[in-house]
Amino acid sequence: MDYLYAILAFGGLVVTLSVLLIVSEKFLVNYGICKLDINAGERPLEVEGGQTLLESLYANKIFIPSACGGKGTCGHCKIVVTEGGGPLLPTETPHLSRKEQRNNVRLACQVKVREDIFVRIPTDLLNVKMYTSTVSISETMTYDIKLIRLKINGDEKISQRPGQYIQIEAPSPDGPTFRAYSISSPSYEDDCVEMMVRLLPGGIGSTYLHNLEIGDEVTFTGPFGEFILNEDPETEIICVGGGCGLAPMKNIVYSIYDKWPDRSCWLFFGCRGTSDIFYLKEFEELAKKHPNFHVVYALSEPEEGAVWDGETGFVHLPVDKMLGPDVTRQAFLCGPPLMIDAVTRVLEDKGIPSDEIFYDKFD
Ligand code: FES
Repeated sequence: MDYLYAILAFGGLVVTLSVLLIVSEKFLVNYGICKLDINAGERPLEVEGGQTLLESLYANKIFIPSACGGKGTCGHCKIVVTEGGGPLLPTETPHLSRKEQRNNVRLACQVKVREDIFVRIPTDLLNVKMYTSTVSISETMTYDIKLIRLKINGDEKISQRPGQYIQIEAPSPDGPTFRAYSISSPSYEDDCVEMMVRLLPGGIGSTYLHNLEIGDEVTFTGPFGEFILNEDPETEIICVGGGCGLAPMKNIVYSIYDKWPDRSCWLFFGCRGTSDIFYLKEFEELAKKHPNFHVVYALSEPEEGAVWDGETGFVHLPVDKMLGPDVTRQAFLCGPPLMIDAVTRVLEDKGIPSDEIFYDKFD
């Protein structure tokens, strides 16, 4: 019993000291103005010490991806800190590979600015902007997926590459937070962005977006993402999506056929049953205009008695069955981790180099 009391007392002491440390750091310690050097002098800033690196950058309109409101749980806010970030914290290590740790990658939301600090940020991220927009379309696609189109306010334009995403600002009990959604509208449409949003039970972003009405105002940042489409029209493009992973594929496919009407491209889409099918008719119409565009939908659990004469089973099976050998290809995959892993194995077996397989895993 004494042993138990001792553990409880020690635990209480640790918690009290931690709280005191946080409170005293917030109200008593003054780090003054610190220099924030980005890309060796490209964007020198002066910021109030004591904030996190993520907050300091955001205050200067540099928008680093973040999907957890800076809680250290999403792992999206990675940047390279070459000097001045203090030691790596236990909250960061689960999100960083050994290689990233060796290369000074840090979570911007966990690094406190307590001294002059030197960071490296890719130019793409420095070009990310914040937009205000208005809902122009909110359309039900399936029982849990809505297509939402946002018209950017004023004369502002967005320059996005096929496969990139935006971060929507959504209200939450802890204040505004950001959630990531792939852009499904093609890159030649520069005055709007469209998304395909699955409603997740209790999901902050999806609940907010599903409840929006035409005319509502929405703030977002973007574009983000590292998908880069091969510009050589002889390279065949393979798109594989599961669930809402169809959104970036729609962007890629329409952007391709706007530029290269004869380019070869395969779109594979995996879902459970017929009630999860969406956008098939539109892709079939596109395939009539572009004979080198091939659309394959596969159902993993078709409902009993369902009218379906397409592929069945997990989507990596038709990928394996239909793609022949000896073709130069690039692939884009988006969907659940198990699907991505299975499709990646198939594509690597067919000779696509791993650095030509871009993917985005989400549940
Ligand atoms: S913002 Fe989510 S881990 Fe940093």
